[in-house]
Amino acid sequence: MEVVICKNKEEASKIAADMITAAVAANPRTVLGLATGSTPVLMYSEMAKAVKAKKASYRQVKTWNLDEYEGLAGTHEQSYRYFMNKNLFEKIDIRISNTHVLNGLAKDPEKECARYEAQIRKAGGIDIQVLGIGSDGHIAFNEPGTSLQSRTSVVYLTPSTVRDNARLFFHGDMKAVPKRALSMGVGTICEARKIIMLAFGRNKQDAVKGCVEGPVSQFCTASALQMHNDAWIFCDEPAAAKLKLKEYYSWRSATKLGIRK
Ligand code: PGA
Repeated sequence: MEVVICKNKEEASKIAADMITAAVAANPRTVLGLATGSTPVLMYSEMAKAVKAKKASYRQVKTWNLDEYEGLAGTHEQSYRYFMNKNLFEKIDIRISNTHVLNGLAKDPEKECARYEAQIRKAGGIDIQVLGIGSDGHIAFNEPGTSLQSRTSVVYLTPSTVRDNARLFFHGDMKAVPKRALSMGVGTICEARKIIMLAFGRNKQDAVKGCVEGPVSQFCTASALQMHNDAWIFCDEPAAAKLKLKEYYSWRSATKLGIRK
């Protein structure tokens, strides 16, 4: 696991975006796994800038998103489909038909999850998976207590996730946050060939500590990344503050990336 500790989220977002831009430039048919939340917003605008500057084209790129709230239509302002359209898809040259988000209104949500998995397999699997991390150590909506081998399925949000998401996206109204979602599983996520996780702010320092230095455990589903052989975490100083070996990781990963001496 590589941990890149950056000056701030602007620097981290730019480096992570450059990594994706370079991958798409090298392989125009890259399959991306994408994430929502406040964390990847800056990275998405850097990716869009690179498209404007003609450094990469997403015409043939296909994307699958991590998760979606149950019960929300893609036109709902708090849905993850809406978020992706606004924050990325409308700003790049991707074909909207090549973008995939789980259908929160599916009559049979488990069937929808199985269909989604089959689609990803048919596309050849995900080349690069973007991830945020919840303050409780979740990836996608895989809350503490979720099997590290889980597949895409209907999941239940913890009160702390409901609180975090209410604050950031539902004007503080916890009652408005759906309590269930459709989410890629931890096992599904870990099959991606490369993983890029972003983590910013003090609120994430325990989660990052658990992810990088904690035991591999279903109580911090992000810790499953320790078993992945091409996982990168881009964080700012506050998110990395509790890491025991932060100087070492920072030096090693930055050297591998060629971004600092
Ligand atoms: P955030 O959410 O980016 O809004 O902090 C991250 C997550 O819950 O995965």
